[in-house]
Amino acid sequence: MDRFQVQGGTRLEGEITVNGAKNAALPIMAAALMGTSTSRIKGVPELRDIRTMSAILEELGVRVERTADRALEITPEDESRCEAPYKLVSQMRGSICVLGPLVARRRRARVSLPGGCVIGVRPIDLHLKGVRALGAALALNDGYVEAKAKRLAGAEVYLGGPFGSTALGTCNLMMAACLAEGQTVIECAACEPEIVDLATFLNKMGANIKGAGSHRIVIHGVDELRGAEHQVIPDRIEAGTFMAAAAITRGRMTLRGLRTEHLSAVADTLRNIGVSVEPEGRACRVSAEDDLRATDVVALPYPGVPTDLQAQLSALLATVDGISVVTDKVFPDRFMHVAELNRMGAQIRKEGPSVIIAGRSNLLGAEVMASDLRASAALLLAAIAAQGTTTIHRVYHIDRGYERIEGRLNQLGAKIERTEED
Ligand code: EPU
Repeated sequence: MDRFQVQGGTRLEGEITVNGAKNAALPIMAAALMGTSTSRIKGVPELRDIRTMSAILEELGVRVERTADRALEITPEDESRCEAPYKLVSQMRGSICVLGPLVARRRRARVSLPGGCVIGVRPIDLHLKGVRALGAALALNDGYVEAKAKRLAGAEVYLGGPFGSTALGTCNLMMAACLAEGQTVIECAACEPEIVDLATFLNKMGANIKGAGSHRIVIHGVDELRGAEHQVIPDRIEAGTFMAAAAITRGRMTLRGLRTEHLSAVADTLRNIGVSVEPEGRACRVSAEDDLRATDVVALPYPGVPTDLQAQLSALLATVDGISVVTDKVFPDRFMHVAELNRMGAQIRKEGPSVIIAGRSNLLGAEVMASDLRASAALLLAAIAAQGTTTIHRVYHIDRGYERIEGRLNQLGAKIERTEED
């Protein structure tokens, strides 16, 4: 197992190019299993979660090859394979999005239930509601969802839950509906850019989807989908993490290759804190001085502030004088980073789905433990800004979602060393 040793107190300066979005690539990879020929997905980052999804597709008789130009070529071969096993699904909850494509194309699926997760309970009831509404018969056996269907039939489905819309639930239903007979309407659909990207890819495969990006998606089923070529959108969460890194170190960074329109809420929050954010086409300059101020933040479904940046923004606010309240309305228990940030001298108290942050100017190096992907990113940002040395254990979490993060931050002036645990 690896750890990071971070010599803190550096200001990050320079340019960085944003990679393709993990959370767009994962459902697109799953969708490719519905094709009758090879799909070519470009700009797929080299990440542990992408390797896990590739392994699941291989289990499902789909060949996945990475090319020299960072594309994945995905070819369905053995369509008799329908089981996504526990040993892989338990590593990544995103793997649930093979359910819809399997039922729609192969009429049969056996997908392990993903189980608990450190960021909260994360049920899949809405995923099941979606495929059931299209006519699939579902059963739970030995910790697996077993689904069987004749040809799926279009339906009107309200997909909202207690925490609003569901991103991957919308993906699952949208994918299944592409091969259903007749029209499907998804009400209270998630609006994330990753949903739009998936719909764009599916339409290239021959699907007929309208309204992706709004709360109402209408899908007219087709008989067949072919392989297609697609470039995944830039990762708005990686971009937001780098923006927060510039701010927490009071640095100056130019981000390239991003879609600033996907980051409006983040830019607005950073400006409220006093960070300068200047978009210019596909680039954005971010800089911060010492005069930052506290602010309140609420994580919401898109187009609100993403829950996937809540931890990083909390780390930033821990270094800003004044009281900030950060609330997560998507995952109200996603605060595993708080105890670890407090080990670094932060003063953060959890109250229900919120944390109250009494900001201070200096964090101090300490030994801390990464618990999940975005919590690890928050700890890394705090460590770069802190005085002294921080050791972050279990950094494999960060490798799930950020490619070569230490190398890229070191190019901007950070001092991060990856070593093996003794
Ligand atoms: N929910 C239900 N029932 C369901 C599904 C979801 O109640 O059947 C609840 C969840 O418990 C949560 C809320 O609905 O409270 C929203 O969850 P959502 O389904 O939107 O999350 P997801 O689709 O499983 C994706 C991302 C997450 C990101 C969330 C929210 C992928 C692979 N994962 O998960 O990304 O936090 O949307 O934006 O796309 C990450 O990258 O670190 C990550 C966790």
